[in-house]
Amino acid sequence: MRNISTSFEDYDRIYRQSVEQPEAFWAGIASEFYWRKKWDKVLEWDFTKPEVNWFQGGKLNITENCLDRHLATRANQTAIIWEPNDPKSSAKHITYKALHSEVCKVANMLKANGIKKGDRVCIYMPMVPELAYAVLACARIGAIHSVVFAGFSSASLATRINDADCKMLLTSDGSFRGAKTIALKEICDVALEECPSIERVITLKVIDSPVEMKADRDIWWHEALSQVDDDCPAEEMDAEDPLFILYTSGSTGSPKGMVHSTGGYMVYTTYTFLNAFQYEEGDIYWCTADIGWITGHSYIVYGPLAAGATTVMFEGVPSYPDFGRFWEICEKHKVNQFYTAPTAIRALAKHPTELVTKYDLSALKVLGTVGEPINEEAWHWYNEHVGKKNCPIIDTWWQTETGGFMISPIAGQTPLVPTYATQPMPGILPAIMDENGEEIKDIEAQGRLAIKFPWPSIARTIWGNHERYKNTYFSAFPNMYFPGDGCLRDNNGNYRITGRVDDVVIVSGHNLGTAPIENAINEHVNVAESAVVGFPHDVKGNALFAFVITKGENIDSTRLTDEIRTIVSEKIGPIAKPDHIQLVPGLPKTRSGKIMRRILRKIASNDTSNLGDTSTLLNPEVVEAIMEQVKG
Ligand code: PRX
Repeated sequence: MRNISTSFEDYDRIYRQSVEQPEAFWAGIASEFYWRKKWDKVLEWDFTKPEVNWFQGGKLNITENCLDRHLATRANQTAIIWEPNDPKSSAKHITYKALHSEVCKVANMLKANGIKKGDRVCIYMPMVPELAYAVLACARIGAIHSVVFAGFSSASLATRINDADCKMLLTSDGSFRGAKTIALKEICDVALEECPSIERVITLKVIDSPVEMKADRDIWWHEALSQVDDDCPAEEMDAEDPLFILYTSGSTGSPKGMVHSTGGYMVYTTYTFLNAFQYEEGDIYWCTADIGWITGHSYIVYGPLAAGATTVMFEGVPSYPDFGRFWEICEKHKVNQFYTAPTAIRALAKHPTELVTKYDLSALKVLGTVGEPINEEAWHWYNEHVGKKNCPIIDTWWQTETGGFMISPIAGQTPLVPTYATQPMPGILPAIMDENGEEIKDIEAQGRLAIKFPWPSIARTIWGNHERYKNTYFSAFPNMYFPGDGCLRDNNGNYRITGRVDDVVIVSGHNLGTAPIENAINEHVNVAESAVVGFPHDVKGNALFAFVITKGENIDSTRLTDEIRTIVSEKIGPIAKPDHIQLVPGLPKTRSGKIMRRILRKIASNDTSNLGDTSTLLNPEVVEAIMEQVKG
């Protein structure tokens, strides 16, 4: 399956095959997996509907590929190395055999509590092994998991549970995050007041804190688990059956529940994992993401396990007990491939390099980044201090919606250009579009990125709202997928992602739609209207700036801004709290009433020397007034 292995020419040859004969190419890769029944048709697609079917008619269970298939050859190999939050506690090494048994037990626990194929199960848990068991257990019985990152607020959790009509919630009493603990079950209890579809809550003891248990609804994980055995035959699934729902912010409205299906997702995540990282038998691979995000789904759980890899799962944070923790873990587990986010690199680069150099990182072979464009300075710091200029950095561009890497170097083979995601993965056909929606054919180009052909792990729909799926991704350019990113291409055909071109801001690697944050702010009784924009931040990449028009009398501005931060934290989560809140007399609007965010972005970024054309503004005077206040 690792079919690119010698040189960039090798990549070139494979890439050409993949785009000239995509069906033959992906059928070849897919045939290396275990299918209960082979597919009837490799691909059927129509981006105008949009509809994409890969390996139609194929029958499989992804956990048979992640677990059972490995038992003959690697039963005693470690599948997951779990590193706890507390560095003084011991890591757990979970073999493929043990993982198989744990997943089957959890799967039986779900079944014993009423879950069947097609039901939705919400998972709101910290980074403990049981989170991975839970995800795989759902897949084992054909239940659709919806993992919600355990940093989201109760309101965000409730929205997601209700959108997918989840029947069960899996959670824990709490979580450890560095020196802090977070009471997760309490957050769930608040959310569940609004969630009538949840029939059963199963709570894992993690921090051993007292929690309230609601009779007839709530049970303890360890008690439920003690009543089941580990014999759980896998449910037979169709290649196109949904595997999971994962929510991502949109530029407007509620979060979008991206639906991923089974066969194509498995094939693509495994293939890209093995090739981009050049993972070799016996390597130890560590992705620092949380399983609550797509990176964790695809490149901690499914891709690596289907590939038979050893994958590290870390419960804690990079700053605890100090900013050397990542490197201590790399040394301890002899990590060979290390994958993290630019925001983490920037945060770590602010601390003495001694925190890196004191650890033995000689096992490292490949470094990766994901989540946002990496700036030149962070790239060089990562390359010099972590990689010792000896480890290729793969800058992987992709999205929740794409399921797997789209543009990324092949480690050790693709010539690297700092800050460039470089070349498309096999099967990916990018295009750069100009302002008129025409493809720019010149090799050097800058514009909006689009993808011209389906790949196996493209999300198939938005849960319950196919129309929104179509409008969001397939209406900007006819017959193409539009990811929402800007892009440039150099004269060697290398792609560099320049950032979002919609109202999504990436803060510390997390996608945040500005509209839901504005809606939260507007709920305050003293707020008449608000506009949120991003501005550059040297650690987070971007931070949020909220411009707020107040209403009412005798407003205490300090109190109001504190309350606004609290509302945003409660409605969305602490990650969405604006860094800066400015009370303003008005917002710059066009004659049609649209807020001119371009101007607000410039003000927030302190880049007001040229505000561009303001002649279409209804209220140009307000711009001066806002600038005065921001300066003040
Ligand atoms: O803007 C791109 C940015 O993150 C967005 C996708 O976010 P999300 O769905 O949360 O998935 C993040 C993990 C895959 C993209 O539209 N992005 C992601 N990776 C990169 C990136 N921007 C530049 N370079 C990257 N390597």
